[in-house]
Amino acid sequence: MKPTIVTAALPYANGPVHIGHLAGAYLPSDIYVRFLRLRGEDVVFICGSDEHGVPITLRARKEGITPQQVVDKYHSMIKKSFEEIGVSFDIYHRTSEKIHAETASDFFTTLYNKKVFTQDESEQYYDEEAGLFLADRYITGTCPNCGNTNAYGDQCEKCGKSLSPADLINPHSQLSGKAPIKKKTTHWYLPLDTMQTEWLDKWIRSHEGDWKNNVFGQCKSWLDQGLQPRAVTRDLDWGVPVPLPDAKGKVLYVWFDAPIGYISATKALFEQRGDKDGWKKYWQNQDARLLHFIGKDNIVFHCIIFPAMLKAHGDFILPENIPANEFLNLEGDKISTSRNWAVWLNEYLEEFPGKQDILRYVLCATAPENKDNDFTWKDFQARNNNELVAILGNFVNRTLVLTQKYYNGKVPPRHALHDEDKACIDEMRNIPEKIEQYILGYRFRDALFELMNLARVGNKYLADSEPWKLQAKDPQRVETILNISLELTAQLASIMSPFLPFTSAKLLSMLEYHSMQLETSCRQSIAGGRASVE
Ligand code: 2FM
Ligand code: ZN
Repeated sequence: MKPTIVTAALPYANGPVHIGHLAGAYLPSDIYVRFLRLRGEDVVFICGSDEHGVPITLRARKEGITPQQVVDKYHSMIKKSFEEIGVSFDIYHRTSEKIHAETASDFFTTLYNKKVFTQDESEQYYDEEAGLFLADRYITGTCPNCGNTNAYGDQCEKCGKSLSPADLINPHSQLSGKAPIKKKTTHWYLPLDTMQTEWLDKWIRSHEGDWKNNVFGQCKSWLDQGLQPRAVTRDLDWGVPVPLPDAKGKVLYVWFDAPIGYISATKALFEQRGDKDGWKKYWQNQDARLLHFIGKDNIVFHCIIFPAMLKAHGDFILPENIPANEFLNLEGDKISTSRNWAVWLNEYLEEFPGKQDILRYVLCATAPENKDNDFTWKDFQARNNNELVAILGNFVNRTLVLTQKYYNGKVPPRHALHDEDKACIDEMRNIPEKIEQYILGYRFRDALFELMNLARVGNKYLADSEPWKLQAKDPQRVETILNISLELTAQLASIMSPFLPFTSAKLLSMLEYHSMQLETSCRQSIAGGRASVE
């Protein structure tokens, strides 16, 4: 069985995470990993806080605190929210850790020694009043693509176009608000243009039909425009220092150090496990699989820039897939931190204690897998009442109540099977197979729909066979119906665990279904076999 590394985008530790983040990267990756674990696969699930870059220093200025105070505050908040919503990372690390600075620094040095980088002096925007070069989000202006007057120096959030400060019309500093001057500075560049011709173009295009259409389409448009050399250093004082004697006052570009954070977090995980070199089995093993779960704004970094870095280094595997989601809107409007238009995860968890699985269910059912999608509270309510309660809850409740009433909670025996029993048993074999195929194909909405179909099968079975009317005249028949219904309940309880882990655990404990049985039953269910609660 191939070892698998699943990474979820490292969120910036400059604010809490919201439902858009959850639906985009964290929930799909958690469902995928929980499913692999159920199959007994060898998987590590990696994430952590992205603690460098301009988003952090801007927030520090806004709050009048130091960047370190910003990341300390939001790292703990985000980590806690992920734990509470049941995102089951093996490690939630942070890029301000020493092991990360060492790993990122070594990575840069290896590329430098291999003469991968080009070095170039150019004129860049500079804020004379603040005494700083205006990298990335320190500078805003009008987007040349869509006319948005608030585009950042690295990206326009309105049309999604990736920009450099020189592209902005009417640029001004986020620090002083003034128009910047130009000043000469030296930086190191990753020559994506030559890499495109040498191998990157071919490698990416070989994934057509294999990567999701939204992911491949974005990559293709980058390639068609022709890749440009990309600076991997910045004139900033917050970040991993550039490990060269002539680079005083320069740090690694946050998008150079952040993805290396996946590697340093894996190293930290195996150090914690007392197996210092254990990380190599994943990152430096041609048989291993690397999967990045991200939102669509991160596609270029994970499909083009990070693979270019990994390949140039030479010791690492490249990603097998990058199942990026599109964006989730809220009540018809784009989620926006600056306008405070979001459902913040920490606030949801405070306001709806014990209701983690409802949010997980709704976000998975409406996940923006192929196009942007909308979250509304009306839909949240409807899906809870009409699906979780009326379909899943109803079937489980009827089965358990009747078992308690007729058999004092013991599983009754199974007797001769009727056609309707056989039809139900067939579905108990077929549906888990479909769920498996959908999850492995990153189609989590379809998988969840099939899970609910399994509960629908149960409801129909009970409604058609009406055991409550048969107890007096045909108790043996009722025993068979309840036996099958209990098996279906147990199967639901285990198969739902990647999606609804809290409900699954509760139901398994109500069934007194023990972990050894669970493991066996899950594997059997997934393989289309029969779970047994006898
Ligand atoms: O977009 C973001 O929130 C980035 N912090 C994601 C980084 S992903 C990885 F490369 F670390
Ligand atoms: Zn734009």
